[in-house]
Amino acid sequence: MTVGKTGPRATKERILVVDDEQNARVALRTILSEEGYEIAEAADGEEALALLAGFAPAAILADVRMPRMDGLTLLKRAREAGSDAVFVMMTAFASVEAAVEAMRSGAENYLVKPLDVNAVLVVLEKALEKLRLQRDTANLRERVRERYRFHNIVGDAPELQAVYEVVKRAAPTKATVLILGESGTGKELIAQALHEESPRHDKPFIKVNCAALSETLLESELFGHEKGSFTGAIGRKEGRFELADGGTLFLDEIGDISPTLQIKLLRVLQQKEFERVGGTQTIKVDVRVVTATNRDLAAEVKTGKFREDLYYRLNVVAVTLPPLRARKGDIPALVSHFVEKYSKAYGKEIRGLAPGTLNALLSHDWPGNVRELENVVERAVVLCKGPELTADDLPPTLRGPRPRERAPGALIPGATLYEIEREAILRTLEMVGGSTSRAAEILGISVRKIQYRLKEYAGGAPPADHAETEGAGDGGPERAE
Ligand SMILES: Nc1ncnc2c1ncn2[C@@H]1O[C@H](COP(=O)(O)OP(=O)(O)OP(=O)(O)O)[C@@H](O)[C@H]1O
Ligand SMILES: [Mg+2]
Repeated sequence: MTVGKTGPRATKERILVVDDEQNARVALRTILSEEGYEIAEAADGEEALALLAGFAPAAILADVRMPRMDGLTLLKRAREAGSDAVFVMMTAFASVEAAVEAMRSGAENYLVKPLDVNAVLVVLEKALEKLRLQRDTANLRERVRERYRFHNIVGDAPELQAVYEVVKRAAPTKATVLILGESGTGKELIAQALHEESPRHDKPFIKVNCAALSETLLESELFGHEKGSFTGAIGRKEGRFELADGGTLFLDEIGDISPTLQIKLLRVLQQKEFERVGGTQTIKVDVRVVTATNRDLAAEVKTGKFREDLYYRLNVVAVTLPPLRARKGDIPALVSHFVEKYSKAYGKEIRGLAPGTLNALLSHDWPGNVRELENVVERAVVLCKGPELTADDLPPTLRGPRPRERAPGALIPGATLYEIEREAILRTLEMVGGSTSRAAEILGISVRKIQYRLKEYAGGAPPADHAETEGAGDGGPERAE
């Protein structure tokens, strides 16, 4: 009885036979062992479940009707337990219902008792073949994922791979790393990857945005302060250098720090010690410093805006992230990464892109780099009505020339900003099922502004002073006449 099988198996595949009739189990064990499978037996679903983790079967041959736990319940519970074994159900009754039920619950196939030996082997081998294929695809997908990813960073353009290489080599050291690149190219992700790859990865990764704070606040943020050291310094506060002790301190937008702070920073980098603002106690820390900027720091050194000695301290290792337009080959991988991310976030089932969409994405120049692409994909996922993102879900600037006339009232050059805003608000509301808070989040405006506008729209023509309410920011409803 050599059925549909070529040569001896290299590794024995494991089959779990589950049947409450001992005779049936013995018969199956005999047949399948002869065929070179490794067999385990269980008398019901409960017993089978207990064996699952230890035995890790590739296939489970299970009787449908059994005491304690039947075959279909076993199937369900096995899936819950994370088993990907293929199921072949056995039933004593050649009923269509039982077969349909078995297949619908996810069984690969079913056999009718009394069992025909050849049928058992054919069905089993086919089921196993399917499992092998599934596992190969899963492996392949995993490998592709790995190839395109370094930590959470998607893309395998040569310029990016060079960056990954430098990160890997610099990570084990304490060298300061300067990350350069246009806005939105992923500088922060690289800083995080550097920390994750380093032996410090279970110590803190602390980030400070140097452009977000005034000189005084930034100084106390970095070095901490003693009580009453400046107006507003209520209690004593530990600075980020202290918080990052043992770990990594990421100073973002380093090009924006004032000359005074440049000197203070230089001192910490050289002497690894500092005092809190208004304090006298010298504090020693072990911190790996990573900085980033989208400015041309070398040029700022030449013009005297940035201290040369500090620049060399920060620039022990430098990596430059390429702009997205210079590595458009990464766009498809990035798009699919963001589609997956945002369809999950918004609970939408999106299969992929409709024809033409990717083309539109590839023709754009992406001045805002990956951040811009991410925003565009998020927006498209929100707007998308079907299972695929279409060019219509992209911002008008990306859609390119349209073959046919747009519907009246749509976003066309020549419309006023008010009309465009109205279209954006109404369309977004439509997409989020009328939730003003979701729409406000997506559009980046306040709920009050949306509500105010809705009142206006309901009233017909735009109010004569709508330009002024613009200046009032959120234009609260109290301003409506
Ligand atoms: N290669 C990438 N793979 C996946 N996501 C990315 C990639 N590059 C950037 N992103 C995403 O794009 C956004 C912007 O990235 P990030 O904040 O690291 O940019 P940046 O270079 O620090 O920009 P800026 O100079 O404006 O601060 C983030 O949401 C980030 O997750
Ligand atoms: Mg950044």
